[in-house]
Amino acid sequence: AAAATEMAPAARGEGGGKPFVDEMRAVAMRLHTKDQAREGEKEPQAPPVARWEPTVEGYLRFLVDSKLVFQTLEDIVDRAAVPWYAEFRNTGLERSEPLKKDLEWFTEQGHTIPEPTAAGTAYASYLEELSEKDPQAFICHFYNVYFAHTAGGRMIGKKVAEKILDKKELEFYKWEGTLSQLLQNVRITLNQVASSWSREEKDHCLEETEKSFAYSGDLLRQIFT
Ligand code: HEM
Repeated sequence: AAAATEMAPAARGEGGGKPFVDEMRAVAMRLHTKDQAREGEKEPQAPPVARWEPTVEGYLRFLVDSKLVFQTLEDIVDRAAVPWYAEFRNTGLERSEPLKKDLEWFTEQGHTIPEPTAAGTAYASYLEELSEKDPQAFICHFYNVYFAHTAGGRMIGKKVAEKILDKKELEFYKWEGTLSQLLQNVRITLNQVASSWSREEKDHCLEETEKSFAYSGDLLRQIFT
């Protein structure tokens, strides 16, 4: 009788705790620096975004590497070597096509599009490897890459555009439909998928967050170096 008044496991988040994506977010927020986000706990080692002095060359390297990383994530879920990766197809958050358009725009402006850097290819091959050997760790990267881009990534894009692109709004920062709704749908999918994971698998996923920050940090740093 008592069970009837309890929430369904999927709504409550498996294991009686909070929804798993809330755990993922909490770990990610702690890894921000205090100047990046209110919930950040790390001491900054690099200049804050407001004081970045971006160059078009550096930003192009970042965009090219980002396109490689998003294309890799999108190919992996399309291929779905692990069957439940298919749940993450066509979320509306995909970024490789918009980035392709942006790079075409830079070409029209007379810029030469560089090849991906070592940081980009290293991250792409790491994602490929994880996607086959370690699905929980792979999902950590999937979450952080897409969600970081809609939060800090968007903020960075705006500041960079103001400083070096005459406020040009790139396709990278435009989504079809309502972004908050797209994000919410992916959060629900993440919670559903993780509801079949053991506590050890969940912890393993959370522990990968630091690597996600390290790889993405290497990409971001190119904007101002
Ligand atoms: C959220 C800033 C780098 C992952 C956020 C938020 C801000 C922010 C302002 C929103 C906080 C809120 O909801 O109140 C930044 C800045 C960065 C940066 C300025 C670098 C200069 C990163 C990196 C990652 C990351 C490298 C991981 C690869 C996330 C995630 C969220 C977030 C997962 C949560 C998004 C959500 O819940 O919708 N960030 N961030 N961020 N960031 Fe970052």
